[in-house]
Amino acid sequence: MKIAISGKGGVGKTTLAGVLARTLSDQNETVLAIDADPDANLASAVGVPPQKVGDITPLAEMTNFIEERTETKKGGYGSIFKLNPKVDDIPEKFSIEHEGVKLLILGSVPQGGGGCFCPENVLLKNLLSHLFIQRNETVIVDMEAGLEHLGRGSTGYVDAFIVVVEPGMRSIQTAQQIKKLASDLGIKRVFIVGNKIQTEEDQKVIVENLSDFPILGLMNYNAKILEADRKGVSPYDIDGQIKEEVHAILDNLRKQFGE
Ligand SMILES: Nc1ncnc2c1ncn2[C@@H]1O[C@H](COP(=O)(O)OP(=O)(O)O)[C@@H](O)[C@H]1O
Ligand SMILES: [Mg+2]
Repeated sequence: MKIAISGKGGVGKTTLAGVLARTLSDQNETVLAIDADPDANLASAVGVPPQKVGDITPLAEMTNFIEERTETKKGGYGSIFKLNPKVDDIPEKFSIEHEGVKLLILGSVPQGGGGCFCPENVLLKNLLSHLFIQRNETVIVDMEAGLEHLGRGSTGYVDAFIVVVEPGMRSIQTAQQIKKLASDLGIKRVFIVGNKIQTEEDQKVIVENLSDFPILGLMNYNAKILEADRKGVSPYDIDGQIKEEVHAILDNLRKQFGE
């Protein structure tokens, strides 16, 4: 299964991605978790200890490696580089492993005016295509709302595009924009996960305003998740409720694919 998670900042994408990755790993699936949000913090949600997180260099910052792979030649007219760099060994080379989850941090690509057509971006797009199309592992991508890294060619291979929302019109509007972007990119299976639910009203605002999306599940507002964040550990390691909720989300997802 190839899963991409998007949504407005702060809604709980990373929390869901981290707990989902740990859940799948505990079910003996081989999981590759990809942090594609420039504001990278998936490592901590997976449970990688803070000391170790500091040692990781995001792929987008490995300038020499990127130049080597894309064969970048800088010249008077900008730069010339390869559009199909080798990427298939990148997960093995640069991912770190925690509790059976292989984690790869992409980092942020400097955005030039009018979008960035640069070696970093080309490498990351090629890598995501490779991950979606050619890998056997379960791949979970924690993304930003803008879908910057997604190229047209690969997105048809995403099995589930999950948009996380919290009970509020701002994140709901972002979800609607993401749906539009996703459909422009040819992504068909867009699902909603509602997070930080406290009341029936909270549930209602999500269900009523996003009635054209299938809802995969809901996660309640949960002080333990904030506590995990404060301690720099994965919610998976300190809370049973989020585990159950994510389990249910995963079961629902599998039902969508008749598994
Ligand atoms: N169900 C929840 N209950 C309470 N706090 C939550 C919940 N889900 C996420 N949070 C908190 O909200 C903040 C943003 O979550 P995060 O997963 O980093 O969001 P995103 O990746 O979408 O920006 C974090 O402090 C996280 O601990
Ligand atoms: Mg995040």
